[in-house]
Formats: sequence, structure tokens, C-alpha cells
Amino acid sequence: MRGHIVTLTGDPFFSSDALVEHTDGLIVVQGGVITAVGPWADLKDAIPDDVPVDHYPDGLITSGFIDTHVHYVQTGIIAAFGAQLIDWLNTYTFVAEQKFEDADYAARVASVFFDQLLANGTTTALTFCAVYPQSVDAFFEEATKRNMRMVGGKVMMDRNAPEHLLDTAQTSYDDSKALIERWHGTGRNLYAVTPRFAPTSTPEQLAAASALLQEHPTTLMHTHVSENLGEIAWVRSLFPESKGYLDVYDRAGLLRPGSVLAHGVHLNPQERIRVHETGAAISHCPTSNLFLGSGLFHVHQAKNHTHPMKVGLGTDIGAGTSFSLLSTMNEAYKVAQLTQYPLDSIKMLYLATLGGAESLGLEGELGSIEPGKTADLVVLDKKATPLLEFRSGQVTSLEEQLFVLAVMGDDRTIETTFIAGEVAYSRDGHEH
Ligand code: GUN
Ligand code: ZN
Repeated sequence: MRGHIVTLTGDPFFSSDALVEHTDGLIVVQGGVITAVGPWADLKDAIPDDVPVDHYPDGLITSGFIDTHVHYVQTGIIAAFGAQLIDWLNTYTFVAEQKFEDADYAARVASVFFDQLLANGTTTALTFCAVYPQSVDAFFEEATKRNMRMVGGKVMMDRNAPEHLLDTAQTSYDDSKALIERWHGTGRNLYAVTPRFAPTSTPEQLAAASALLQEHPTTLMHTHVSENLGEIAWVRSLFPESKGYLDVYDRAGLLRPGSVLAHGVHLNPQERIRVHETGAAISHCPTSNLFLGSGLFHVHQAKNHTHPMKVGLGTDIGAGTSFSLLSTMNEAYKVAQLTQYPLDSIKMLYLATLGGAESLGLEGELGSIEPGKTADLVVLDKKATPLLEFRSGQVTSLEEQLFVLAVMGDDRTIETTFIAGEVAYSRDGHEH
């Protein structure tokens, strides 16, 4: 692929030379893997005659977006009105997720969900399924068809929800184990042990989750933490022996590299240090936090110099309001504004790509355009709409161009999405 290439090869919160840009660059892909990247002028003579070059003269080519927290089973309840977290769960979510007992329904929604990911330039997502194993099968079957690096898991929940949605500590262990054996490491699929959140798991179930992680050390862990103040108070009453919400997971042995905790809006300084020490990661979900009125995530506190946490971006569909990581960057900027921090476009792109890969422990394979990494890529169209074309014509720097794309962009801005070097989505339906 030839075009304007932009990628982060380090964390720009700490490193000033993390950005790599080739204004007219070439990415060479062989067998789905990037084998070279550099200026077109330097590399063009090495291209064999029979190798096609896809040229994107108005495109900004970057690493595919990584959504570090999303619920595919909530695709049908985006934009559910008028509630904060716990009421929203009871009124909408716990009703919607019961439909996923039906494997055919799960398969239909999985197909819609994956279409949306690709149309938004998202090439990898860490995903909640429902409590039913068949909802997980539907998810990984669709992921396999599309050859995408996807991470998912069966929700574990054994209390404080409608009877029909509950498992038990033992059945959640047995079902998760069978799913790990069926899906983890088959094709590009990875499994995440997925206790929903502390209020819907007994201590016995959290212990079962921990046992699964120990028995399957390469699986991930995916849950929610400190999203909403009412939720935090409830966790304190349910787990009086714990120091706080994060400590519930810590005591259960659930925090380690590859553990991703959604939200973390209200973590205190000691909890942030503990996240740092354990190597766990936070998924920042700004559209969701604003939609549910949960609070403002302080990204510069998360990225403090002494104990920085790994941070990626999450759409958190269906509490989140867009599948687009561009829209999510836009809202992350506005949330940061309200915390008096000017989050620049380079850092936003990092959060949506390499920051996500690092959160999932997949930075060796994903998150940047470098030789050896898989060619999961996205082409952004600087001229996607008349207004964007006009605005892009005014920009004087890469930072400004990226910022304009993040703030004004959405699915219309995604021209092409590549999975392992193959076109998986093309906005205009072109064959490349
Ligand atoms: N906490 C527990 N479950 C959920 C969920 O489905 N969505 C969000 N945003 N928070 C949760
Ligand atoms: Zn969520």
C-alpha cells in the first residue's frame, strides 16, 4: 500500500520520538505480515513487477483501530434513554442479553457487529459476549470467518441479575473452560475470562475465574471497575472485607498483564498504583462515561510519570454511542478538556492503536506499522466529506490533520480496512 503513513512505535505520553510518518510511503506485505515500511522513493525499485500496489493519494494509512472494551450482545440497545449504570443494566441490558440464548439470533447479531467493526476501521476488539456459551460460539465463528484477531469470553455472573441470566460458580467455570479449549488460540481467536463486575459475582465465582486464569496462563481477563459512584458504594457493601473495588479483583488474583478493566473513572491514587504494579490495563470509554453520566476519566493521571497505567480506548457499545474509534477519540478529547488536559491527536491515535495492543499484550503483533507485525491496517480518507475536504485543505501539520480526522471523522472517514493484508472492507466497494 502506498500513501501517507502514520504510526506510533512508542508511547507519546512519555517519548517524544514515538511518531513515525512517511508523507509518501510504502508498506510491503507478504503473507499477511508487514515486511518493509518506508518512503516510496526508497522502496519502489525493490517491488517486483507482478506485485500490485494499492495507492491511496488522499489516504492516511495507519494501524487498524483496537477497541479494548465492547459488548457485541448490546448492539441492539445503543441509545437507550434516561438511566445511569445500575438502572440501565436492569432496564435494558439484562433484558437484551437474554435473547442470546437463541444461537440463531446470536449469529445474526454477531454478523451485524463484525460488519460495524470493519466499517469503522476496527480490526481487533476485546468483547463481552453473553452468559450463554452459544453466544460465544457465534462470536468466534464470525471472527474466524473474517480472520480477525478477536478476544472474547462468556460473561460469568451468579448473582444480582435476573434468574435466567445467572450461572453458578461451577457452571461458569465448566463452560468457560470448555470454551477456552474450543476457541483460545484457534486461528487468530483469543479467550478472555470475563466476570461481568464484582456486584454480579460471588467470591466463589471470582475464585473460579482466577483458577481459569492460572490453568490457562495465556488467556486474558476482562471486567469492569469503578465506573459509577453508586456502583462503587454497592461493591463496598457486598465486599466489606476488601479495601475497595479494585481490591476485590486483586484479592481474587485477577490482576495481571492481559487483565483489562473497563472504565476506572473513579480509581484513587493507591488503586492506580496497584493497576500499574500488576500490569493490568484500563479501557477508557468516553462515549459511555458521558452517556451514562458516570464521570470523567483523567487520562493524564492515568499516564502519570511514576506509576503509569496501560490505557486503551473502548467504545463500550451499548452504553457507548458509537462503534467509531475516531468518534471515541473525539469524546476522549472533550473529556480531557473538562479535566483541564489538552489531549493531542498523536496521543489519541496511540490510545486507539498501540495503547490498545499493549493493553491486550498484543504489541508484538499489532498496534503499529512495523516489519514483523500483522498487516491489520486502516486507510482514513482526508476528503471523506465536502466539509472534511475543505478543512483538510487548511491544515498545516500532521498533528492538525489527525486532530481534524478524529474530531470530524466517523465511519464515512474509513476508506478501506485491511485484515492481514487483505481488503476486509471498502467503503466505495472497489476491488483493490
Ligand atoms: N458494568 C457491569 N456490566 C456493565 C455493562 O454491560 N456495561 C457497562 N457500561 N458497565 C457495566
Ligand atoms: Zn462495558
